[in-house]
Amino acid sequence: MTWYRVLKESQMNDGDLFKAKVNGKEILIIKDEGKFYATSLYCTHEQYDLSDGFMDDHKLICPNHFATFDPKDGSVVSPPEGSGDIEPLKSYRTKVENGDVLVEVD
Ligand code: FES
Repeated sequence: MTWYRVLKESQMNDGDLFKAKVNGKEILIIKDEGKFYATSLYCTHEQYDLSDGFMDDHKLICPNHFATFDPKDGSVVSPPEGSGDIEPLKSYRTKVENGDVLVEVD
C-alpha cells in the first residue's frame, strides 16, 4: 500500500465530491464535517459515476436510483428501492499532511 497526494485540502468544501485517478484506480474523495474520505467511484448498483452524486445528512447519495452509502467505510445505508442488496463501495484510508490530502492505494 502506498500513500498518494491527490489534492490540496483547500480545494474542497464540506459536502464536495472530487473524482480522482490514483495509481490507475478511479476514486471518489468526499469531504464531510472537515474530514476526508475516499471510496471507489462507481455505484455498485449500475456503475453510475458517484462524483455526479451528492451528500445529504453525511451520507453519499447516488442520483441514479438513490442508493445511499456511508462515506466513512463505503457501507450501504440503503439500496435503491426494490433492488435487493447491493455491494458496499471500496473504502480507502485518507490523511492530511502539510495541507495535502493523501489516499492509500495498493
Ligand atoms: S446506479 Fe446508483 S442507485 Fe442505481
